[in-house]
Amino acid sequence: MRIFASGSSNAQPGRGLGWVRALAVVLLTLSASSRAAESFDQAAALAKLREKIAGSETKPAGEVFENIELLKRMPAERLLRMMEMGFAKSLGVKCDHCHDPDNWASDKKTEKKVARQMFRMVGEINGNQLKKIEGLQSKDPVVNCTTCHRGEKKPATELK
Ligand code: HEC
Ligand code: HEC
Repeated sequence: MRIFASGSSNAQPGRGLGWVRALAVVLLTLSASSRAAESFDQAAALAKLREKIAGSETKPAGEVFENIELLKRMPAERLLRMMEMGFAKSLGVKCDHCHDPDNWASDKKTEKKVARQMFRMVGEINGNQLKKIEGLQSKDPVVNCTTCHRGEKKPATELK
């Protein structure tokens, strides 16, 4: 009993701490490297895309890109700016929330499909619902992604 108690209080703490430290180092290294591998460089991706569409910036997105359903007539360069400011920034995400950056045209991600439906909903609100409301301050009132999302994936329903 005494041997056990003194043994554990002398030997264990040092060894225990060594283990904890070693484990902490391993875990920190692992999480840092996986974060580095996962981190997506949005600025670099945009630069690469702009390089790819060079000379076609003002052509309709529907002709420049592969899989455009909604924004066919928007100039290609404007579509990229809309992706950056209108979609990514307003939701507080980067491109890879909705895209596989190795295949921008792919519709595999649910978030991209949701975004198309959100876009249609915004069109319905602006083109139809808001126009029916009388007595507003603006002549042409609009909502956009930022109106609801305000930098969050999930819009708030209460004030913090
Ligand atoms: C909230 C989701 C969302 C985010 C975030 C987003 N996109 Fe998109 N992106 C879409 C949708 C939806 C389309 C298809 C638009 C359509 O059908 O008209 C699209 C289309 C594209 C296309 C055309 C691909 C093709 O060939 O058809 C490119 C390129 C693109 N996005 C780049 C970007 C970049 C770069 C970013 C980050 C700066 C980004 N997107 C962020 C949803 C998103
Ligand atoms: C009228 C308010 C409103 C507007 C405007 C709006 N959204 Fe949303 N959005 C929502 C709500 C509500 C959800 C569902 C959040 C949840 O899961 O509870 C959502 C969810 C999403 C999601 C899923 C996010 C995730 O990761 O789960 C995407 C993507 C999205 N919206 C994109 C857009 C885009 C792009 C626009 C602009 C074209 C837009 N939204 C405009 C209300 C709005």
